[in-house]
Amino acid sequence: MKNSAVSPDQKMIPVRIAGTGSYLPERIMTNQELEDLVDTSDDWITSRTGIRERRIAAEGEHTSHLAAKAAEKALEQAGLDGADVHLIIVATITPDTLTPATACYVQQHLGSQRAVAFDVSAACSGFLYALELARTSVGSGAFRNALIIGAEKLSAFVDWNDRNTCVLFGDGAGAAVLLPSENGDGKILSCALGTDGAQAELLNIPGGGSACPLKVDAPNEKLAYLAMQGREVFKHAVNAMKTASIDAIEAAGLTASDIKLLIPHQANLRIIDAIVERLEIDREDVFINLDKYGNTSAAAVAIALDEANRQGRMEKGDKVLLVAFGAGLTWASAIIEW
Ligand code: UT7
Repeated sequence: MKNSAVSPDQKMIPVRIAGTGSYLPERIMTNQELEDLVDTSDDWITSRTGIRERRIAAEGEHTSHLAAKAAEKALEQAGLDGADVHLIIVATITPDTLTPATACYVQQHLGSQRAVAFDVSAACSGFLYALELARTSVGSGAFRNALIIGAEKLSAFVDWNDRNTCVLFGDGAGAAVLLPSENGDGKILSCALGTDGAQAELLNIPGGGSACPLKVDAPNEKLAYLAMQGREVFKHAVNAMKTASIDAIEAAGLTASDIKLLIPHQANLRIIDAIVERLEIDREDVFINLDKYGNTSAAAVAIALDEANRQGRMEKGDKVLLVAFGAGLTWASAIIEW
């Protein structure tokens, strides 16, 4: 797999994470409930994925609503108001509408009139793609601050009759505020991003775009749902996340033993275990919450980062590794000095 590692430009202002937030819809759907929908079992889901339950957004609760609620908490922690925000990037594959971008609705919800707002579509790697875009935008001085959000309402794009996919995904949102780092008070040390469009068909939503518009009167409803070749994706996920992790660690001038906390994409416990083993990171130094939320795509790393932050899992100066993998195929990693 190709990989493009990006190390910090010496001319750039260092950038830190000044606040995090997350929001999960109230409704909990357990594995037992799924047993009534498809031919599956709590035992299969738990042993093959580690997932025990997931959250499902209410009717009328859109991706932008989840995103705005997570963003409000991140802004509060950073000591900013919506009106102070200069840049909003929402990472999502389940936008409220094809156009305009979900970030535009979020701007409206937050009253961030002066902010430039747009979406990034990089599936489960989206939050880390947004992190790198925001880091370089604030680090270059082009924007004074940035609000990045990973938000998904995957329940709207899952085929609830397909046991291969419907047991895996959930809804939720996570956010972070990026500010210039003054006096070396924590900073993003490196990012590594990669894409392999040749593998696009392994994981996609085939319908709904210009290649295959969905017609109200045509029976092509299945094309509106997430389709995945799970076993193939699994292999790519392990390899790409391992390589991306090593690239970011090396770009930061570190070794794996310097990592105090690993926050991986939350798709499958077996994928996380395989990466941890290959990187030789202690299992206790890994943040895992997929048992509660399932795979929330672009929101997963963002929610985990916020929960780790609010649980006090990161102390000042700790080196934290974030890594993700998703449709595209895409992969991404970052090292943050907390
Ligand atoms: O977030 C973006 C990236 N996504 C991922 O990283 C996901 C990567 N893939 C995976 O996590 C795993 O491949 C899955 C969890 C999706 C599937 O696990 P697996 O161990 O790879 O199972 P499999 O697809 O090889 O299927 C094994 C068996 C099959 O039955 P047969 O053909 O052996 O009789 C499936 O039909 O398990 C069956 N199966 C199920 N059985 C009960 C598939 N889904 C289910 C289910 N309940 N929900």
